[in-house]
Amino acid sequence: MTLTAQDLIVPNLGPRTILSPLGLSKVPGDGLGDFVPDETRVLDQIERRPAEASDQSLSFEKAGPREHLYFDPRRTKAALVTCGGLSPGLNNVIRSAFLELHHNYGVPEVLGIRFGYQGLNPARGQKPLRLTSDMVEDIHRTGGTILGSSRGPEDPGVIVDFLKREGINILFCVGGDGTQRGAHTIAAEVQRRGLPIAIVGIPKTIDNDLPFVWRSFGFGTALDKAREVIDCAHVEAKSAQNGVGLVKLMGREAGFIAATATLASQEVNFALIPEVPFPLEGEGGLLHALKKRLAARGHAVIVVAEGAGQDLIAKGRDERDASGNLKLNDIGLFLKERITRYFAAEKIPMSLKYIDPSYVIRSVPANTDDSLLCDAMARYAVHAAMAGKTDVLIGLWHNEFLHVPISAAVASQKRLSPEGGTWLSVLATTGQPRWGARLP
Ligand code: F6P
Repeated sequence: MTLTAQDLIVPNLGPRTILSPLGLSKVPGDGLGDFVPDETRVLDQIERRPAEASDQSLSFEKAGPREHLYFDPRRTKAALVTCGGLSPGLNNVIRSAFLELHHNYGVPEVLGIRFGYQGLNPARGQKPLRLTSDMVEDIHRTGGTILGSSRGPEDPGVIVDFLKREGINILFCVGGDGTQRGAHTIAAEVQRRGLPIAIVGIPKTIDNDLPFVWRSFGFGTALDKAREVIDCAHVEAKSAQNGVGLVKLMGREAGFIAATATLASQEVNFALIPEVPFPLEGEGGLLHALKKRLAARGHAVIVVAEGAGQDLIAKGRDERDASGNLKLNDIGLFLKERITRYFAAEKIPMSLKYIDPSYVIRSVPANTDDSLLCDAMARYAVHAAMAGKTDVLIGLWHNEFLHVPISAAVASQKRLSPEGGTWLSVLATTGQPRWGARLP
């Protein structure tokens, strides 16, 4: 979908009449942090190619504290909900959002919604927690989410009834694309009823597949774990005669985790991602290439993204999970079986060690970079909400935090470009064949 400037206009609940209590400045160069006016924009494209005569770039509203607020902090009640699969840093986001709301803005009440959108449906019987400073004190040191999470939407009508009855003015929805689609339907229902409730999304996914979010929190920590696993696979492979380490990594239909962990590790000989289909059989296929590699070096490491090679596996009916995501066939076990069978038929001794770290890469505490990202994302989300921005997600583009209308953020999915620098580097480090890419 091609976005226009119109698609990037951020909805506001109404005029901002309350002076922010943050006490920042409006004068650059006076040594004080500055409020950010709505008119400050961040360009979508910062590169101009030779053939492009003029600047055609779209731009986003820059995130940051606003001088005037829509909500009077003393009369504001906020709630946070964490949805979908775990991502390192969820607790950091809960903690920083609470601290920014409560201590910096002076919001008296912040609720933690239990178990994702289910906690916003009273029929599910999950009462919200009232967050306190004591409750959040140490939570950033552990993985997971103290609120609990779940997949799947709830009726937006029921949710908005709940928000209204509880007097909640701001709802922060922390999650990936499914969560943000849910947030958008809640915002649409709020708007239909003309209610003064802000819905603000905070992007979370180890898969890193959200548009206008250069890095979603949790991705970097998942890479740390994935790299460890790849390094272990390499040790195993090197210690056997014709040893093959085969590692399957999460990432859904995007290859960011597999490709980037490959680069971090530098020990991978074949990186297989959904964006670049690969043949299995024949002279140009993976099996033949692996045979050549073993003949030359005696060991090999293969990293396969869970969404790769789906076209190779006999398909049943498309099944989806509660978030609407396609359930993937197990490419890891499939490759293990096919590689083993191939070398047996070729009568070449080969020892394959299959490692699927599965949830291990996402159920750990946030690393340093993710901790910084979570803190910033949470605080920018609070600034946006207090200013009355709604149906909006905090983006990160060209190292700047942005306000992205949720409708624009969920209109497409981010994929690893087979023409971009990351994939070029993967090909350079692995030396694998240049299988034809599937362009988005
Ligand atoms: O989207 C995040 C993710 O961890 C994917 O990488 C993985 O495919 C999926 O969630 C697992 O989902 P679930 O938590 O429902 O098993």
